[in-house]
Amino acid sequence: MMIELSNWLHVKEAFRSKHLRQAGYTEGAIVMEGTLLDLHGLEHRERRRLENRLFRREIFSYWEHEILGETIDATMKPFVEKGAGDLAQIGYRCAMNLTATIAGIDQDPRDEEQTDLLYSKVKKFSEGATIMHSTRDKDEVRSEVRKAMESFHRDFFLPSKNRREELLLELASGKISEDALPRDVFTTLLNNAESLKLDDDVVFREICFYLQAGAHSTANAFTHTVDDLFSWGEQNPSDLELARNDLSFVQRCMHESLRLSPASPVALRTPLEDVELSDGTLLPEGAHVVLDLIKANRDPTVFGNTADVYDPHRNVPDGIARWGMSFGAGSHACVGAELDGGLEIDHTRPNEDALYGTVAIMVHALLSAGGTKDQLNPPVLDPNSERKHFSSYPVLFLS
Ligand code: HEM
Repeated sequence: MMIELSNWLHVKEAFRSKHLRQAGYTEGAIVMEGTLLDLHGLEHRERRRLENRLFRREIFSYWEHEILGETIDATMKPFVEKGAGDLAQIGYRCAMNLTATIAGIDQDPRDEEQTDLLYSKVKKFSEGATIMHSTRDKDEVRSEVRKAMESFHRDFFLPSKNRREELLLELASGKISEDALPRDVFTTLLNNAESLKLDDDVVFREICFYLQAGAHSTANAFTHTVDDLFSWGEQNPSDLELARNDLSFVQRCMHESLRLSPASPVALRTPLEDVELSDGTLLPEGAHVVLDLIKANRDPTVFGNTADVYDPHRNVPDGIARWGMSFGAGSHACVGAELDGGLEIDHTRPNEDALYGTVAIMVHALLSAGGTKDQLNPPVLDPNSERKHFSSYPVLFLS
């Protein structure tokens, strides 16, 4: 039995119910088995507690201030120098390099070929994770995913693992201090593999999962934020100018784009026992429950009768995030939410404590480098996608 939940309260309650189990990735076990998103109950809490140590504000601040700028500059430089590029390519290269740093895969952002190679593998991992929605021959997809995982293991995973294991040995012998360790998921897992009884296969799949979870959603949010800003800027040119100079305004725009175009438009769950929502809606044990984030994020009872319209200046009720439920909620809520979306906008917070988030920083870097829509070559929508995905989106850099 399939049940679709599409209003704000239903989706929020379903996300928060501990009797609803993740159900989106059973068929995608080749990449997803034993990963954080697929765990439930105690096992999930233990792994999450460990990984949360890394996803802390001080570390976000370190990433945002020490890592982001350099990686984005190195990735964007060839496009800015050429004066042109494609939004999707710029987005996925930046997102791939940043996510690799956070996951713990060593990757030089100046090496374009290697970035593209890594991305081609990670795209396959996503295809493997979401295989239940695939219209292709599933065994063929699985065989391609297996090949991508094998070559990734040899060319990226093992060299990064060896370097981290050497550092951990140096830590154990007192040669270096904990501060000298890379601040990434891979190092954290290796350092705690024994206490959490994580075997090598699980660590490997967790890294594959992180790479796809971070890269795909960051790139998607980047493209939508820029596209929405360009469209809004046609009627509101002063706002586009403001975005070229003001990072906090870009963050506000990013939150609005994320609300309207969530990177993962649905979440799937199955009740482990009958669950009754507060208005009496019954979710029977074993049902296939679809949480529709696009519809929940446009619920007029929360966002008013302009809920469907892009408006970066909109007011939202207290206690409601500007990005709606695009980062999920409850126990599986996105660990990368503050990293990508920054801290919620609060004008009373001192500037030095502000975090604007990866996506806003990427968008701001593009706009402040003079990035603009190529009016002679309009973007082309992907004809094979029901959603707003672009197969090309030419941009120019006008200095
Ligand atoms: C705009 C960017 C992003 C969006 C919209 C997004 C969205 C989401 C959503 C909706 C979930 C919950 C899925 C569910 O409950 O079924 C989730 C979970 C997760 N996300 Fe993100 N994500 C983003 C960026 C990132 C980044 C940058 C990382 C890491 C580098 C990341 C890592 C994760 C992980 C590890 C989980 C699983 C958490 C758990 O199961 O406890 N995400 N994300």
